[in-house]
Amino acid sequence: MSKRRSQILDEMGLGPRWRLRVPPPAGGPAVALGDAPSSAAASAAAPAPAPAPTPTPAPTPTPTPTPTPTPAPTPATATAPTTATTITTTTAPVTTTGADRIAGVMRMDWPLLAETVAGCTVCGLARSRNCTVFGVGDRRASWLLVGEGPGAEEDARGEPFVGQSGRLLDNMLAAMGMKRGEDVFIANIVKCRPPDNRVPTAAEVASCEPYLHRQIELVRPKVIIALGKTAAVTLLGKEQSIASMRGKVFRYRDTPLIVTYHPAYLLRSLAEKAKAWEDLCFARARVREWAAGEDAGIVQS
Ligand code: URA
Repeated sequence: MSKRRSQILDEMGLGPRWRLRVPPPAGGPAVALGDAPSSAAASAAAPAPAPAPTPTPAPTPTPTPTPTPTPAPTPATATAPTTATTITTTTAPVTTTGADRIAGVMRMDWPLLAETVAGCTVCGLARSRNCTVFGVGDRRASWLLVGEGPGAEEDARGEPFVGQSGRLLDNMLAAMGMKRGEDVFIANIVKCRPPDNRVPTAAEVASCEPYLHRQIELVRPKVIIALGKTAAVTLLGKEQSIASMRGKVFRYRDTPLIVTYHPAYLLRSLAEKAKAWEDLCFARARVREWAAGEDAGIVQS
């Protein structure tokens, strides 16, 4: 670590773990982030219980009609017998195309989206998961943090970033005077744990992306923070190194997006914590500028 970087860390009071030097102001986060109300943390809604089956009435026996002798039909003049029309309601599953599915997801509200993610079997990750990990936090947050995918603890608990890297993320937020659930929403690129914590495949990412896209539309954050390469490359659709993306403002559709290192990487490379701190300060400064109506120069991906 360079001398300057270790000075920065010392000045911030950041040792191997992120520590809060100054307690956050009593009134809430240090950043004035607009007027979005901070609701309580809202984790993924459990799937709606299946409706109770309606008892089927026993069929009423019909008296057997006395058979009447039928005259032999004359082929040339025969008329079709009149039969009662039976209306059958099909219960076969509706087959949707990929485009239909995406269009459907884009119309979902929070409860339906959460329920759909909870029951999703679109990709193979569904077979090995314990819990889906929908996302957690203030559904009208100014800050949307996006990681890669659940790890073992997240898969067991159904909440993102609750393992070791999650504790670091919480410390990073606390150092900024912020807190999960308060003006912050945390989600992942994929909602199910990839086995052995491998990077999700392109197909898994593509299956899951509509959910994140809809979450972004519903939250309407002021800024998206892409945590690590999988999140950054997926959201920007372009293969680039984190180092080359830091310190710039990109856009995911209409939302400004800033890139930083993934907390799991920071746990392995403590010297990079100072860079992640710079990135979060950079993001906070931009959010403040946008709130003040200043043009901070959006860079297209
Ligand atoms: N890493 C992630 O990218 N997301 C989590 O939820 C946990 C670890």
